[in-house]
Amino acid sequence: MNSALPHTPIHTPRHVAIIMDGNGRWAKQRHMPRTVGHARGAAGVRALVQACVDHGVEYLTLFAFSTENWGRPSDEVSTLMGLFIQYLEKEMKAMQAEGVRLRVLGDISAFPVELQERIEAAQGATVHNHAITLNVAANYGGRWDIVNAVKSWGHANPGLSVQSMTEQDLTQHLSTSGMPEVDLLIRTGGESRISNFLLWQVAYAELYFTDVLWPDFDEKQLDKAFTWFGSRQRRFGAVTA
Ligand code: IPE
Ligand code: IPE
Ligand code: MG
Repeated sequence: MNSALPHTPIHTPRHVAIIMDGNGRWAKQRHMPRTVGHARGAAGVRALVQACVDHGVEYLTLFAFSTENWGRPSDEVSTLMGLFIQYLEKEMKAMQAEGVRLRVLGDISAFPVELQERIEAAQGATVHNHAITLNVAANYGGRWDIVNAVKSWGHANPGLSVQSMTEQDLTQHLSTSGMPEVDLLIRTGGESRISNFLLWQVAYAELYFTDVLWPDFDEKQLDKAFTWFGSRQRRFGAVTA
């Protein structure tokens, strides 16, 4: 476990976040419907979770569906919902065997009731697992997270003025409450943007952008990202000794 001082190089990221992008283009290159790309993308997740466990990563946060992704054609949205339900169903055994604690980050109240129930059940069933925490960000937006945290803080502190709120207070009311900040953010699919993912939590993350499309991002690609991360010198605004 890393309890290093801020300016000490950390070689294994404790918290890895991934923007899993490029499923549609992967399918298009093969003259197949975009939904085939999503299915391929989802199928690769288990091996990557296992690889993160092997590397000693404690938290893995995957961007599965953004608050803006509702703007896609309805058949694509329902395919993504269906894949999510299937994932929760099919992967439960493996998650239990591998000690994966599942958390879903985002406003799940917008999902079909069946999906909400499965999410609650999966979170409950894996709550005592300790090998890794797998956060699936679904109907997630970084801006939503911050506004939600402010509201949540207000509910928890009805007598207090927002003027007294500190950064630490807000951090404790984010969906990632209790987790370390992101050390390494990976985006596949060639774009160099955050697309409203974890805005607050990536303040000092190392940003790794790769052209590899998500269905092609395997353990070897992950190793490459970890090697790159290991070569970074993190200063957190300070100077090196
Ligand atoms: C990422 O792949 C998956 C989701 C956003 C759910 P895309 O579907 O965005 O694939 P591209 O970017 O169109 O290739
Ligand atoms: C980000 O990818 C969202 C997810 C990977 C879930 P998008 O494909 O939605 O992002 P943009 O539209 O290229 O910014
Ligand atoms: Mg995309």
